Amino acid sequence: MSVEQQCPFAFDPSGRDVQGEAARLRERGAVARVVLPGGVGAWAVTGQREIRALLTDPRISKDAYRHWPAWTDGDIAGSWPLAIWVSVQNMVTAYGEEHRRLRKLVAAAFTARRVALLRPRVAEIAQDLLVRLAGLPAGAPVDLRQEFTHLLPMRVLAELFGIPGELRVRLRRIIAGFFRTSASVEEARANGADLYLTMNELLALRRDMPGEDLTSALIAVRDEDGSRLTEKELVDNLILLYTAGYETTVNLLGNAVALLLANPDELALVRSGRAAWGDAVEEALRVEAPGANAILRYAVEDVEVGGVVLARGDAVVISYAAAGRDPAVHGENAGEFDVRRAARREHLSFGHGPHYCLGASLARMEAEIALSGLFTQFPALRLAVPPQSLRPLESFISNGHRELPVELGPFTGPDTGTR
Ligand code: HEM
Repeated sequence: MSVEQQCPFAFDPSGRDVQGEAARLRERGAVARVVLPGGVGAWAVTGQREIRALLTDPRISKDAYRHWPAWTDGDIAGSWPLAIWVSVQNMVTAYGEEHRRLRKLVAAAFTARRVALLRPRVAEIAQDLLVRLAGLPAGAPVDLRQEFTHLLPMRVLAELFGIPGELRVRLRRIIAGFFRTSASVEEARANGADLYLTMNELLALRRDMPGEDLTSALIAVRDEDGSRLTEKELVDNLILLYTAGYETTVNLLGNAVALLLANPDELALVRSGRAAWGDAVEEALRVEAPGANAILRYAVEDVEVGGVVLARGDAVVISYAAAGRDPAVHGENAGEFDVRRAARREHLSFGHGPHYCLGASLARMEAEIALSGLFTQFPALRLAVPPQSLRPLESFISNGHRELPVELGPFTGPDTGTR
């Protein structure tokens, strides 16, 4: 083992090269020692086979309060900038029976059947946004992240969860701060405080004026029988649903648009009907996992994986970015965007096992509607900058672009094209 391999691999908090990092990490083996921003040690798992094994292993927990001694013993400084990722108490940080209880409370709202009922409304919102795009001053480059890819998931979530207009702008800023892993301790703390303040405002509003939305439904569960959901779990579950449901979907939309524009032959396959928009969505999810690294999991007891023993209490990062490009599954051209790749659905970008993404059907539906609408109604759409100069988000967790400058070209409206 080289000296370089003996030192733990340090993630770059600024997320300058998430895929390069994933590749270098893979070179150290399917399971390797890492150090997180803020100096916290962990293992990172990059191999698909090993990730599948761990994510279905009952000896792997997500509950720091029960299974991460470094957290409960005070070894992790209170000033750790990523502390909020571990301190939140919701379904994604819960283990076993607690996890099943918390997930059950919202799972019914996200079944494929329930999500299908939302399709007409999502299509209406997307169309509204496309018309709005067409109304922007002609000729100047447009930041598609600002003007489209963030607006669709935000509006869909806002309707689903009853988030009023004035809180949406604030939430967007706070969620961006939540994922910015280069934030200083002070910035992370201030952002966390702002997050709880905003969530409490939203809860007070929905308690006063309940609606048909999921926030009001969860409040009703909490208020009818406090034993089913504590107040902290209520707030933290809503934090999870907004952050997980928003940021990742924005990234998926932006990554898919950028990949299609940078690979015109692949775009032509979809436009001509030789591949489906859904194929492009799966391939974009595979090649650019919107959530690059998932923090954290903990070994409940010693667990052997990929020839390494995770000792009881060790922390684990799952590298979904690396898993999507695992050459053992996708071959040596795993980094290429190929919408007809046979194994394009063989990715773990929505997770795997008990914590499998609750919003996967919703995200897929939003992405198919957004991509088909955008590319059909703006047939001359192109990037306004070379793909390699798109700036990544400042995050080793959230994998997307800070902005997505495009030239829209003429708008043909919904009734023309090959849809
Ligand atoms: C492209 C979009 C999305 C991606 C790539 C994505 C990805 C993921 C991943 C990887 C996990 C597992 C995290 C882990 O391993 O720790 C997860 C969990 C979760 N996601 Fe998503 N997600 C997306 C959209 C959504 C949406 C739209 C919602 C809901 C509105 C949502 C809600 C959740 C929830 C609640 C969990 C936690 C499930 C549990 O712990 O049981 N996600 N997501």
